[in-house]
Amino acid sequence: MTELNKIAHKILENGKGILAADESTATMTKRLESVNVESNVENRILFRESLFSSKGMSKFIGGVILYDETIKQKTSDGKKVTELLAEMGSIPGIKVDTGAKQLAGSLDEKITEGLDGLRERLKEYSKLGAKFTKWRGVYNISEKYPSKLSINSNAHALARYAALVQECKMVPIVEPEVLMDGDHSAKNCFIKTSEVIKKCFDELRLHNVDLTGVILKPNMILAGNNSKNQISNEETAKLTVKCLKESVPVEVPGIAFLSGGQTEVQATENLNLINKYNDTNFVMSYSYGRALQQSALKHWAKNTKDINGTQAVFDHRARMCSLAAQGKWASELENK
Ligand code: 13P
Repeated sequence: MTELNKIAHKILENGKGILAADESTATMTKRLESVNVESNVENRILFRESLFSSKGMSKFIGGVILYDETIKQKTSDGKKVTELLAEMGSIPGIKVDTGAKQLAGSLDEKITEGLDGLRERLKEYSKLGAKFTKWRGVYNISEKYPSKLSINSNAHALARYAALVQECKMVPIVEPEVLMDGDHSAKNCFIKTSEVIKKCFDELRLHNVDLTGVILKPNMILAGNNSKNQISNEETAKLTVKCLKESVPVEVPGIAFLSGGQTEVQATENLNLINKYNDTNFVMSYSYGRALQQSALKHWAKNTKDINGTQAVFDHRARMCSLAAQGKWASELENK
């Protein structure tokens, strides 16, 4: 087992998953303002340290993806965020892309930027304690999208990123996200997601990335949120497992899904069913942002001094996700 393979397994071991707390300042501002909390540096760390110091962290969260601001911050009692995470037994990670911009040549689509100067930034993050990283490619879906240009250029960027990350001895999370937005069918999502993932692995191989030291962060197979032809959660689970079985090389140690705008319970139920149908050797867990934090954020916004209450809401969500990552979740548990 290589060192990178060990880190990947450690993050996802025993039903643990990843907390994606790597919202950029612009996105975090949107989230905070949606619950009428001012987005300033103090509030951003206060909410995040509430989650990072909760009991559920040590039991259910094997890794946390941080944002540049957060990895350099101290908590209110003067501890480095990375030290707090280490105490909780959770591995610190860092988002290293600089966002998705318009793709020249196909302006309705996006290309993720951030390769310039990446090697130097990675060295800095590694010194700060990061052991893994994230880069998100994002794909619109419709009859004509994603285009070959979007599929090829994002796969190329993801592979160059992953190769640089492994050079710095960290585990790259490779996140190709086919969006839920639109009226596309689940069948189209299956076809396009398969094509996107296969192309990513072609490029990763071309760039000599060690696939045993990578975590894939994909979307689930869903009909578009405006589609009249929604499919059942059972069908989502079966199609998602089939897509990954056909598209992901067996060497990859772990898959950690994004929630992508699903509700907390929907993301949990789908993950649970995926694990019921998982007949592969891949660990299939979570790397959720909104589906782990939404209720906790709403609770905290009502009284930002109620840290215990906020932690209880977060712990419940993390426990439900962890049960789902083991195929042991049931809807009755939501009320316990
Ligand atoms: P969501 O689970 O809210 O989709 O966020 C996951 C993530 O990290 C997206 O890049």
